[in-house]
Amino acid sequence: MGFEIDYLRRKLLNTMRHKIVAGNWKMNKTLEEAMEIAIALQERKEDVPHGVKVIIAPPALYLANIEMMEEPFFYLSAQNCSHHDFGAFTGEISAAMLDGMNIPFCILGHSERRQYFHETDELIASKIDACLRHNVQPIFCCGEVLEERKDKKHFITVLHQIEKALFHLTADQMEKVIVAYEPVWAIGTGVTASNDEAQEMHAFIRKSIGDHFGKEVSDQIHILYGGSVNPANSEALFACPDVDGGLVGGASLKANDFMTIIKSAAH
Ligand code: PGA
Repeated sequence: MGFEIDYLRRKLLNTMRHKIVAGNWKMNKTLEEAMEIAIALQERKEDVPHGVKVIIAPPALYLANIEMMEEPFFYLSAQNCSHHDFGAFTGEISAAMLDGMNIPFCILGHSERRQYFHETDELIASKIDACLRHNVQPIFCCGEVLEERKDKKHFITVLHQIEKALFHLTADQMEKVIVAYEPVWAIGTGVTASNDEAQEMHAFIRKSIGDHFGKEVSDQIHILYGGSVNPANSEALFACPDVDGGLVGGASLKANDFMTIIKSAAH
């Protein structure tokens, strides 16, 4: 019986648009602290609402340690990977390696990778390709900086990022990509986009994807909001029609807060 429910639940989560809540732990926590969060979440796995997919992106070094986090309640993600499969690239990990470890997701193009590691749209596009070659679903991040929003260039900035990283894909490949809209001015600042700002940009992203790939793709693509999501604002953000959940940084490092955010996705 339990197996059947799990099977149906997994099937449901894989075939239609649903809510996704992803936790990006960035370069935080010792192994011991990371295990504490993972165990606290795992102990509350039954609180994960049906129809909500939870993805945890710990530092890559800990992926094997928190493998006890159980699908279909929790799925694991890397925070970045190389565009190469194997070779002499000291310090890198590849999508082929993630696939070998059954890690189903990888965050790509996060603004911190763009800003501190000088990742270009072209490089991000080839990382997307590497993930898709190896059965790893990319969580592709895009978003404008504050000046661009002030200059009313936020739509064009995001459109360019999407075009350059994703528009070379086939419709089948695009369906595997999760998009995360993360206005850079909202990341780690405590300043969240308003519900209207988030909805407006998400609708724009969905329409842009629809114009290029067709409505069938854009109707089912997941677009997450990221940038200072917390237990107090998540429910209203996730209730916006084009917001399919969130990519959560700081608040995903506290098991209780993260579980409140996960539960708010069910409303
Ligand atoms: P934040 O980070 O929730 O701490 O703002 C979000 C992110 O960078 O993905």
